[in-house]
Amino acid sequence: MREQLEQIKAQALDALEGCGDAKALDALRVRYLGKKGELTAILKQMGKLSPEERPVIGQKANEVREALEAALAARQEALKGSALASRLQEEALDVTMPGKTVTEGGLHPLSIVLDDMIDIFQSMGFDILDGPEVETDYYCFEALNVPKDHPARDMQDTFYLGENLVLRTQTSAAQIRVMENRKPPIRIICPGRVYRADEVDATHSPVFHQVEGLVVDKNITLCDLKGCLEQFAHEIYGPETKIRFRPSFFPFTEPSVEVDVSCTACGGKGCRVCKGAGWIEILGAGMVHPNVLRLCGIDPEVYSGFAFGIGLDRLTTTRYKISDIRLLFENDMRFLTQFK
Ligand code: PHE
Repeated sequence: MREQLEQIKAQALDALEGCGDAKALDALRVRYLGKKGELTAILKQMGKLSPEERPVIGQKANEVREALEAALAARQEALKGSALASRLQEEALDVTMPGKTVTEGGLHPLSIVLDDMIDIFQSMGFDILDGPEVETDYYCFEALNVPKDHPARDMQDTFYLGENLVLRTQTSAAQIRVMENRKPPIRIICPGRVYRADEVDATHSPVFHQVEGLVVDKNITLCDLKGCLEQFAHEIYGPETKIRFRPSFFPFTEPSVEVDVSCTACGGKGCRVCKGAGWIEILGAGMVHPNVLRLCGIDPEVYSGFAFGIGLDRLTTTRYKISDIRLLFENDMRFLTQFK
């Protein structure tokens, strides 16, 4: 029996020594030390021994149990340690690795310039309004003093969506909607997209942007228009900028003007940007035609007003010296990220 004990001890220690994972270790514990284990099986036969042998073998059996328990505990500790070590190894964080770069968005150049314009006009007391891009023929033309057979319709190549429905060719349509709904004093700007059936080239796009302005009150004169636009030009291009009015024609303003600013690239000497002229046209404007006021229920004997339509795309290309308007619509990231 003593030999059996020695044998179990040797076997068990050997097995424990080579045991590599927690599950197998538990199986060994059951096999040797469990209730139905090999050591217990031997102890159950103690009754067959002589009274002299019993304490000796009993002591031996205890020794073996203690040795096995100690070896088991040591092995458990060791396994726990190495599991932790390998987990640390696996989950190790390399703090020297380059991080994932977070790309930050930026505003489109048109939005940047529009935001600036809104700031400027807001500071002069203008409200910012919105109008529909799909307009009726009435708001886009008729009410702006352009009847159906009027030759001025040819000035704007119109996308028709039906007999009486168009993609607005000008934000001026918004003027009528405002005057129908507000009483003077009126001071608004209405920025937005406009559409014309133009061939695409470096300076033309079938979709572009205007910012309409409208002021109606008592005693509004051309001087107010000039002062307002000059202030605007100084704030957007700098105080050295000059403006000039050229006589023009729009059916809904009288008198009408086209407004140029001194070239932002050469200051007026003449260069490629201004095609040698020294001036760049940025908007059309004029005094609101009495017919238009009357149609909207505003008495032209009491009130007068001015209106202007600024080309946002032109303003943006001149400000940033962008040579081709198409760049504003192609959304090439290499172009857009320059404006962050
Ligand atoms: N709507 C005109 C255009 O698109 C510009 C304009 C607006 C002219 C307001 C006068 C007054 O050409």
